[in-house]
Amino acid sequence: MTLPIRVSTSLLAADFTRLGQQITAAEAAGADWIHIDVMDGVFVPNISFGLPVIQAARRTTSLPLDVHLMIVQPERHIEAVVKAGADWVTVHAEACPHLHRVIQQIREAGAHPGVAINPHLPAVMIQDILPFVDLVLVMTVNPGYGGQQFIPQTLAKIRQVREMAKALGRSIEVEVDGGIAADTTAQVVAHGANVLVAGTSVFGAPEGISAGIAALKNAAVRQISI
Ligand code: DX5
Ligand code: ZN
Repeated sequence: MTLPIRVSTSLLAADFTRLGQQITAAEAAGADWIHIDVMDGVFVPNISFGLPVIQAARRTTSLPLDVHLMIVQPERHIEAVVKAGADWVTVHAEACPHLHRVIQQIREAGAHPGVAINPHLPAVMIQDILPFVDLVLVMTVNPGYGGQQFIPQTLAKIRQVREMAKALGRSIEVEVDGGIAADTTAQVVAHGANVLVAGTSVFGAPEGISAGIAALKNAAVRQISI
């Protein structure tokens, strides 16, 4: 069972005054997915953006849109998010008392369901939802802001999630989000992650978006071939 390494570039770190150009540049540079962080100021302290940005991204690119809902009661918005153009919809386990129902709702709406877990939540908490999801997002920072430092204690959990998925015989995408740059990429890939969310290390790369994405892909490939 092999899954490709994918770079999901996070628009949170993009220049919103020229979002279309930034998405096009990321696509041209080899981005695999576009990561869209929806924050409500309740589940996380910050407010980011919502449906109009998903719709605008959908008009701009044919890349899969990877929507990360950092909101309470996500079940109220699933159909609208999928209609806006989301291909992957990830909700937080901590925000969903009826997680199994929400995951089914995402699939019925026509998108791939994902579950996210904050740094404090152990992998075992999502064991029984794994047969139903296509993606697990292991947060490697506390959600809410870009540009934070990677929490190394999450590495062991990445490995546990990958092992749990393997034991089920399912090729689940294991995504990591927060503080992902060339150095941390090598570590997370070694522990079983295959989807790398990257904001600052792509849109804030001193040598540009293209160099930022290339650095991540090189670090991942070096790690796999070891
Ligand atoms: C954080 C968001 C991330 C964020 C990552 O709450 O979920 O997707 O954009 O930003 P960087 O890559 O800058 O750590
Ligand atoms: Zn995110």
